[in-house]
Amino acid sequence: MNILTAMKERRSVRAYSDKPVSREDIETVIAAAGLAPSAINLQPWEFIVSYGEEKKRLVRRLKKAHAERKVSCGPGTAKPLPQKYAERSRKALAVMEPKISQTGITFNRFIEEGSCSFYGAPIAIIVTIDRVFPAIRYLDMGLSVSYLLLAAHAKGLSTCPIGLIVAYAADIADVLNISSEKEILLGISMGYADETAPVNDFKTGREELSEILGWYE
Ligand SMILES: Cc1cc2nc3c(=O)[nH]c(=O)nc-3n(C[C@H](O)[C@H](O)[C@H](O)COP(=O)(O)O)c2cc1C
Repeated sequence: MNILTAMKERRSVRAYSDKPVSREDIETVIAAAGLAPSAINLQPWEFIVSYGEEKKRLVRRLKKAHAERKVSCGPGTAKPLPQKYAERSRKALAVMEPKISQTGITFNRFIEEGSCSFYGAPIAIIVTIDRVFPAIRYLDMGLSVSYLLLAAHAKGLSTCPIGLIVAYAADIADVLNISSEKEILLGISMGYADETAPVNDFKTGREELSEILGWYE
């Protein structure tokens, strides 16, 4: 698949079929994530794959943690967003909400509970970085995650990056025995999309190029 096509087609998927994902495909996707460039080729990323009974155990713990602490979905900023970003968020909600409301539960509840269960995907991926690294290395992590999402798409697999679960990092570390030297940055659900689910029946737009590109000439 052409890389630009994959970039244009990829979208986050929030309902999955039961079709299992082969270990070979999982390894191909994670190997692709490892091909990303990084400063001094440090490759600061580590990926933990949880599936089957272990994934069920992880989801049970995350649901319990969420029921107790109810961390809500949102931009996570201390101050309200500047208008430009608030408007982008409003546009995304306008696309997502009508489809998600078809589930019969509120948008926030769908996102929060769905995120904690990796949207029922057969594969949960936990992305970690060694705490030894400064925050600038998050850049390398983002590159690697992009490679992962695009490689999955090229293999016919769907994904959703899930930042919300980081609020329950201590629970994840406990269930998966992740060392305190590692910081948990992101979860990713992965599997085959349920193409019939209304919650997958939308695609968020993007700002015009002129909004993100400045020229000096
Ligand atoms: C770092 C990051 C964290 C995200 N966290 C969540 C999340 O917790 N739950 C969720 O449903 N989607 C999450 N998303 C998915 C975004 O909502 C999605 O990428 C965005 O709306 C653009 O849509 P698209 O991925 O379909 O292009 C996250 C995406 C990123 C990059």
